[in-house]
Amino acid sequence: MGIPVKKLKSGFALPELGLGTWGMGGRHEPDSSNDEAEITAIKAAIDAGLTHIDTAEVYGVGHSEELIGEAIKGVNRSKLFLTSKVAKENHTCDGILESCKKSLKRLGTSYLDLYLLHHFSSECPLDEAIQALDMLVDQKLVRHIGVSNFTKEHLKEAQKYAKHQIVCNQVYYNLQAREPESSRLLEYCKKHDVLLVAYRPVEKGKLLEEVPPLMEEMCVKYQKTPAQIAISWLISQENVVTLVKTSNPAHLKENVGATGWYMTKGDVEILRREYPGQAAVPEQNRLG
Ligand SMILES: NC(=O)c1ccc[n+]([C@@H]2O[C@H](COP(=O)([O-])OP(=O)(O)OC[C@H]3O[C@@H](n4cnc5c(N)ncnc54)[C@H](OP(=O)(O)O)[C@@H]3O)[C@@H](O)[C@H]2O)c1
Repeated sequence: MGIPVKKLKSGFALPELGLGTWGMGGRHEPDSSNDEAEITAIKAAIDAGLTHIDTAEVYGVGHSEELIGEAIKGVNRSKLFLTSKVAKENHTCDGILESCKKSLKRLGTSYLDLYLLHHFSSECPLDEAIQALDMLVDQKLVRHIGVSNFTKEHLKEAQKYAKHQIVCNQVYYNLQAREPESSRLLEYCKKHDVLLVAYRPVEKGKLLEEVPPLMEEMCVKYQKTPAQIAISWLISQENVVTLVKTSNPAHLKENVGATGWYMTKGDVEILRREYPGQAAVPEQNRLG
């Protein structure tokens, strides 16, 4: 059975859990030392049902995309949902078209399911960047477009310029990282038919290190692990899906086990109100 999808009113659908790939193939520089294991991990994730794979041109300076390209060789392309992102340094019209073509080449595919502006750029006009994304859809190189790390105001502006629907804003959101709530971005997404794709759901594993009593109570109530509660808290919310990175088979199984069931609205709200350590940007992340 596949991972359940969340649908917009427009019909656009995205699996409630996808595979993140930050760190696979390097971070700010390419790293080939672990290629075989990472390719195996991506294949295992696809086999486990994680067909949404999220990457970006900057991840390992393109090497993450190359590893995904290797891992998906022989996989029915129509069963996959591939997302990549263009770095803000490339947000000119020509820059976006060129970056997209390079990502397609590294991924070994003729189209992306979703292409995002990785961050808002104050250096490049947003209307030009959005028009470039629209052109990619018209040229059938990209199926859907979206943004990442955009404020509510920038998202609204992007929607004003877009011919094709902005289907998502991919942002930092988890039990402790609450910027999308305090800025009312989450509320805006619900109201305006945009999916909020929450990245870093387990705070790079740090959320699982010291489990507060409230989390323990939820684990007992739902008979789930802290990682599953952290992921479910996101996907139990309207308009929210998430991405988790793992190269570990046991973590993969655990994370997939967070899908297909939901927390009650009441429990989602208890965790929203009472989960300790909430901040716009969590302290441990500022330090890390
Ligand atoms: N748009 C953006 O600017 C942006 C920014 C950050 C992230 N993202 C995307 O979102 C994805 C997810 O975010 P993230 O990678 O920063 O953080 P994350 O998914 O919260 O955490 C990944 C880390 O947690 C560990 N982990 C995963 N599942 C676990 C489990 N069940 N138990 C214990 N540890 C577990 C992983 O280690 P193992 O591999 O050992 O399991 C990995 O070190 C990224 O990979 C990327 O695709 C986007």
